[in-house]
Amino acid sequence: MAAESNGLSRNGSGHACPLGRCDGSGWILGEDGLAYECDCLAPRLAKARSAGVNSVIPARYRGVSFDRPPITEIDSVVVNAVRDWVEDLDRNLAEGRGLWLMGDTGTGKTSLAMLVSKEVLKRNRTVAIYSLPKLFARIRATYDAGPEGDSYTEFFESLCSVDLLHLEDLGTEKRTEWVLEQLYALINERYERQNSILVTTNFDQSQLEEQLGDRILSRLVEICGDPLPLYGTDHRLEFRPPESRAD
Ligand SMILES: Nc1ncnc2c1ncn2[C@@H]1O[C@H](COP(=O)(O)OP(=O)(O)OP(=O)(O)O)[C@@H](O)[C@H]1O
Ligand SMILES: [Mg+2]
Ligand SMILES: [Zn+2]
Repeated sequence: MAAESNGLSRNGSGHACPLGRCDGSGWILGEDGLAYECDCLAPRLAKARSAGVNSVIPARYRGVSFDRPPITEIDSVVVNAVRDWVEDLDRNLAEGRGLWLMGDTGTGKTSLAMLVSKEVLKRNRTVAIYSLPKLFARIRATYDAGPEGDSYTEFFESLCSVDLLHLEDLGTEKRTEWVLEQLYALINERYERQNSILVTTNFDQSQLEEQLGDRILSRLVEICGDPLPLYGTDHRLEFRPPESRAD
């Protein structure tokens, strides 16, 4: 099959190969008659798999980097642990190891977590990023369309299969039996598939255990390891204009 003269080859459905190598199908026919995977295939499959889940880094955190504040201002023990995880990203994802950032408000948990998700996305791996309340609103919306419906099953499967599930603010969701059931099903499925989870939370382990139960907690501990503690003053207050300070 000859490539078009503009260097972009297309298949019948009009999808161009971003690398200009295959006919857009993701496969290259060799002279031996066998089909070889084009380098464009894996990242496209990964994107398709994550379709329907949120992978967008919020605007406030898009610029996060190890060599810039606020990351350079955060406790170096925690930052180094996160850097180690990122340096070994492929193996950590393959072995289903995650991270857990725990502590006071405004101490850089979300900044660090977004930095991790950004690095995972840069490597063309898939990430689903949700705050717990948003996640349950989304699950409920697909669930209400019918529990046996495609949208619920597909969304749940995407949440289970992305390379990294990034959960913000664990413990802030409204607890109902249904929410706990859904959370258990999700965490347990990722646990069984050996898929990584990244968690930020203001609650300590015993508070979370009381809220979520020991079955969810023990799986999270096994996936994410010991929580990385970030305690101290709320750095958000530093950025408030002086007239709005309480003192
Ligand atoms: N150690 C720090 N030094 C300076 N600024 C910081 C530090 N940690 C966080 N910040 C700044 O404080 C704000 C809040 O950071 P971030 O959202 O990461 O906090 P958080 O720990 O996730 O808070 P919360 O528990 O309320 O979600 C951001 O503007 C961030 O740049
Ligand atoms: Mg946060
Ligand atoms: Zn291609």
